[in-house]
Amino acid sequence: MSVGGATQAGGGAGAEIDESVEFAGIALRNPVLTASGTFGYGTEFAPFLDLEKIGGFVAKSLTLEPRSGNPPPRIAETPSGLLNAISIENVGVRAFLEEKLPALSEGVVVIASAFGTDPAQYAELAARVCEHPRIAGIEINASCPHVKAGGIEFGQDPRLLAELVASVRKATSGPLIVKLSPNVTRIAEMAKVCESEGADGLSLINAVQAMEVDVESRRPVLSNVLGGLSGPAIRPIALRMVWQVCEAVDLPVCGIGGITNAEDAVKFMLCGATAVQVGTANYLDPSTAGRIARGIAEHARRRGFARVADLTGALETG
Ligand SMILES: Cc1cc2nc3c(=O)[nH]c(=O)nc-3n(C[C@H](O)[C@H](O)[C@H](O)COP(=O)(O)O)c2cc1C
Repeated sequence: MSVGGATQAGGGAGAEIDESVEFAGIALRNPVLTASGTFGYGTEFAPFLDLEKIGGFVAKSLTLEPRSGNPPPRIAETPSGLLNAISIENVGVRAFLEEKLPALSEGVVVIASAFGTDPAQYAELAARVCEHPRIAGIEINASCPHVKAGGIEFGQDPRLLAELVASVRKATSGPLIVKLSPNVTRIAEMAKVCESEGADGLSLINAVQAMEVDVESRRPVLSNVLGGLSGPAIRPIALRMVWQVCEAVDLPVCGIGGITNAEDAVKFMLCGATAVQVGTANYLDPSTAGRIARGIAEHARRRGFARVADLTGALETG
């Protein structure tokens, strides 16, 4: 891949730049979304940034019924990372559609995230959520690293993943994004399965399965023992996986993993990502996503691109 095909603005500082991108059939005003589970249902972050100035957000993963998470301790800091085993604590699909969505202003792009323990649950959830006019698309969480049933089981077995994607595909014709697990040996193989079963886009990566130990108590720091590692510690792993997946499939990819500033986001786009999601960095500064969107545009302008979308795949490898 090279910058050869890029549209050059030739404008430098001050020139207008087109920030819009299309991801999985969803028109976004810029390529920056926020990641599921790190941005609540959107309204919690409204005091800190204008949600209409970012590309959109992926809501906390939903289940058909409300669900409580793991008992504490379920979150711990690690060097350059965050370990969590929140599990899929959520209000359930009915409360999301009836109480959370109406609280968001019309211009906010909302992608729902679905979780279940079998393909039928994911499919029912997708059908209910996607018929709502405020939902731009659905991301299926096939990758939660710390829920015993569902999630990671689908994300680690190509046969189960195929069954899951096929069943959700039958349930909705709306934009269907599959969120991949990094806890596999061959990520490209999982991406190909999603492509052949009719997904419209891929998001990667979810958290990396991990654990931490307290030597004084001789106990794992998380009550669940295992958790998912996120934050800057996983960024190079995520970047490698995004690169491999973009090389392997034609589906658009949303890059996730340790993105903290615009430079991080640009790295994912150069490796082939159409859009990015900001997760753990929202906890450090809840306005991070807006800053990253402005920074990507500034980077593209400075480098002479007419469109932010031209950064996608512009990595020089020769
Ligand atoms: C506290 C916490 C909760 C999360 N909950 C979800 C979730 O409900 N669904 C999901 O698909 N991913 C969830 N994730 C994973 C993130 O969306 C993201 O894929 C991961 O954290 C890597 O990105 P980051 O390094 O920018 O945080 C969660 C992450 C964290 C830190």
